Amino acid sequence: MAKIYIPYGSVEGQTARIVEYIAELVGAHGHEAETVDLKHAGDSLPDGQDAVIVAASVHIGKHEKYVVDFVRKNRSELERLPSAFISVSLAAHGDEHGGEGYVAEFEEQTNWHPAHVGMFSGALSYTRYNFLKRQMMKKIAKDRGSTDLDTSRDYVYTEWDGVKHFTEDFLAGLPAPSGAAQA
Ligand SMILES: Cc1cc2nc3c(=O)[nH]c(=O)nc-3n(C[C@H](O)[C@H](O)[C@H](O)COP(=O)(O)O)c2cc1C
Repeated sequence: MAKIYIPYGSVEGQTARIVEYIAELVGAHGHEAETVDLKHAGDSLPDGQDAVIVAASVHIGKHEKYVVDFVRKNRSELERLPSAFISVSLAAHGDEHGGEGYVAEFEEQTNWHPAHVGMFSGALSYTRYNFLKRQMMKKIAKDRGSTDLDTSRDYVYTEWDGVKHFTEDFLAGLPAPSGAAQA
């Protein structure tokens, strides 16, 4: 069993949902997951972790500053342990390469170059925005030719299967526990 630490940033809650889904998968594979909302947590990485999955969402072109700070502070541990980065944005929606620019900037800001990077679509969370944000996001959606303009509801674009595959690939690549019985 591996202990997997999953610190994340989320403004409207979609990244939080994605990491909870990942934590469930991790548990279903017999490992232990701890999700930590970095907005409300200290920025140190507790000892005794076997792997780390960092997740963050994009707003106005950037991932949460407190996630950048966490990665900067713990970079050497993230480089030592098996680790992954998950970026959640709308740019990732329907475009395999959408979101790459945000990840490149994150890597530049943190100097962390994770071996595993997942870019997933988030949501248009109209019901979680204030009036101005709701109008702004509706206009952006409209300008992009989207028909998802009913602001009384949310539109979730996350590719749950993609998140599942990414997580299972990551788990499959973890080293066998040091106490594992030899065949
Ligand atoms: C104010 C605002 C700005 C955003 N800016 C971007 C952006 O620059 N690029 C992008 O791809 N998505 C952008 N998004 C979409 C978010 O990345 C998406 O809604 C995501 O699901 C947010 O994740 P969270 O709910 O975990 O915070 C923006 C959303 C909001 C509300």
